[in-house]
Amino acid sequence: MKRITVTTLQEMKRNGEKIACLTAYDSSFATLLEEAGVEILLVGDSLGMVIQGRDTTLPVTLEEMIYHTRCVARGSRRALLMADMPFLADADPRLALLGAGRLLKEGGAHMVKLEGGTVQLETVRRLAAHGIPVCAHLGLQPQSVHKLGGYRVQGRDAETARRIREDALELQGAGADMLLLECVPAPLAADISRTLRIPVIGIGAGPGCDAQVLVLYDMLGITPGRRPSFSHDFLSDPEAGPTHVAGAVRRYVEAVKSGAFPAPRHCF
Ligand code: KIV
Repeated sequence: MKRITVTTLQEMKRNGEKIACLTAYDSSFATLLEEAGVEILLVGDSLGMVIQGRDTTLPVTLEEMIYHTRCVARGSRRALLMADMPFLADADPRLALLGAGRLLKEGGAHMVKLEGGTVQLETVRRLAAHGIPVCAHLGLQPQSVHKLGGYRVQGRDAETARRIREDALELQGAGADMLLLECVPAPLAADISRTLRIPVIGIGAGPGCDAQVLVLYDMLGITPGRRPSFSHDFLSDPEAGPTHVAGAVRRYVEAVKSGAFPAPRHCF
């Protein structure tokens, strides 16, 4: 089985083929997800909320990220494995290089994701120079939840939209291999996806992105509390009828590939 790489994903973007990504935190789900056709497994720091039951992603440590990345890596043979840099592990470029290095060497990740715009340019350059693939993360940045005053859509006004667009271009210029846009208006995300050479993954960012990601537990309907409006329960979808976990993941992959997900009701 051939491993999906950043080059595969760039080729898929060029060919207009949509890319399916889901979060994964353990080995069993890693195997199930990639057998259902998921191309990118994201070991998200959302594990702080959905696995550890915390209120935010902030308390997640580098050790915990390495542990879960290693678990996912053991169950994966095909997908590209991306791991989140936890809060402040990327606070300066040298620290980020050490942390990202550990996620690759000890966790088995193929790429790291880090939140932030211009503040991360030097770090992205440093990681790229050392051969570490980077996915930048713009729009809603959950690690800044206290500064943002909640989980809010970003880029609704012209000034923030301009900043997100410029940050995206600069991050690509600094060597980012992928960009994740979270909770931004669909037309802005579509515009950025068309402009950038690198693949753009969206979550709450509309159907114009090259790839889609959801938090696994949200799309299986098992996250306690209210599901985010941009997500969809693929396990108990009354319109699609009953299925099992693997069936729900296959439905998600098919909906991403065909462009049926996200639908207008999942967009801002
Ligand atoms: O941690 C996470 O799960 C994320 C989401 C954007 C998918 O980063």
